[in-house]
Amino acid sequence: MKEKLEGLLREASAELEKAATEEGLQEIRVKYLGKKGELTSVMKGLGSLSPEERPVVGALVNTVKAQLEEAIDARAAVVREQVKAQRLAAEKIDVTLPGRRRPTGSKHPITLVTEEICSIFAALGFAVAEGPEVEHDFYNFEALNFPKDHPARDMQDTFFVGDQVLLRTHTSPVQIRTMLKQQPPVRIIAPGTVYRCDSDATHSPMFHQIEGLMVDKGITFGDLKGILTLFINQLFGKDIGVRLRPSFFPFTEPSAEVDIACVICRGKGCRVCKETGWLEILGAGMVDPAVYGHVGYDAELYTGFAFGMGIERIAMLKYGIADMRLLFENDLRFLKQF
Ligand code: FA5
Ligand code: MG
Repeated sequence: MKEKLEGLLREASAELEKAATEEGLQEIRVKYLGKKGELTSVMKGLGSLSPEERPVVGALVNTVKAQLEEAIDARAAVVREQVKAQRLAAEKIDVTLPGRRRPTGSKHPITLVTEEICSIFAALGFAVAEGPEVEHDFYNFEALNFPKDHPARDMQDTFFVGDQVLLRTHTSPVQIRTMLKQQPPVRIIAPGTVYRCDSDATHSPMFHQIEGLMVDKGITFGDLKGILTLFINQLFGKDIGVRLRPSFFPFTEPSAEVDIACVICRGKGCRVCKETGWLEILGAGMVDPAVYGHVGYDAELYTGFAFGMGIERIAMLKYGIADMRLLFENDLRFLKQF
């Protein structure tokens, strides 16, 4: 009997050595200690022993059982450690590997030109102002001295949203909103999206403008010309030709349109400038005293100038883009060039 028990213990120990998983250990536990296990059946056989043998063998069975349980627990601890080590090795992260690069986009040419123009004016002390794209007739027309039923309203093909509500046709309403909020001195630049019922190679129904406004005591047309010339020289280079032509806007008097020498032919005359040698880039003028009346400025005390330019037009000239629609088609082959 004693030999049989020792044999069982040896056999179990050998199997334990080989067990490498929790499941394997569980099988061994069942095989020896389970209800139908080998050690259990020895214990059941105790009844058939003589009263003298029974306590001796019983004690031996208990010792073997305890040893076996201890051996299984010890092995289980080793197996748990091994499994954990394997899992950690499999999960190991090499922090020295280079990261995966995310594809990055680039700025749209309209954004690039807007930022460049704003930074030139920021250096001259102009602050950025903004206004809504859905605008009231008062700010877009009335306060800018476009009388009701005045033919000048037809110059800008307006998208109406309601009777008095429209998509702004220019950034000039931001002048009004700014002047209603603060007294002079005013020096603002207002970039934004505007809308007109207008569409061909050089006109888009949605486009962008930048408005400028400077009002203070003693501002003259000379200041207007000086600041705009400085701006154009920074944007297009020092030796670009600049000229002012008389023009008309209801909210400025006198008014001018500013041309630059054609960037394609440098003034000699070509298809882009329609053989004139010049390209119009913005409208400007001295703020009309009638506008000051709408915003509560003292027209005797203050003078100022305003200007407005189309950003698409400037981007086309700066980058040599022949068709304005390219700017809105979102063709990556086009956009990746900037
Ligand atoms: C105006 O919009 C005036 N508010 C500008 C102004 C501001 C004058 C302050 C005086 C003082 P105009 O309608 O000319 O003016 O438009 C200005 C510029 O917007 C044009 O020179 C042109 O570059 C651009 N533009 C006009 N219509 C379109 C269009 N459909 N698509 C793209 N650009 C356009
Ligand atoms: Mg014009």
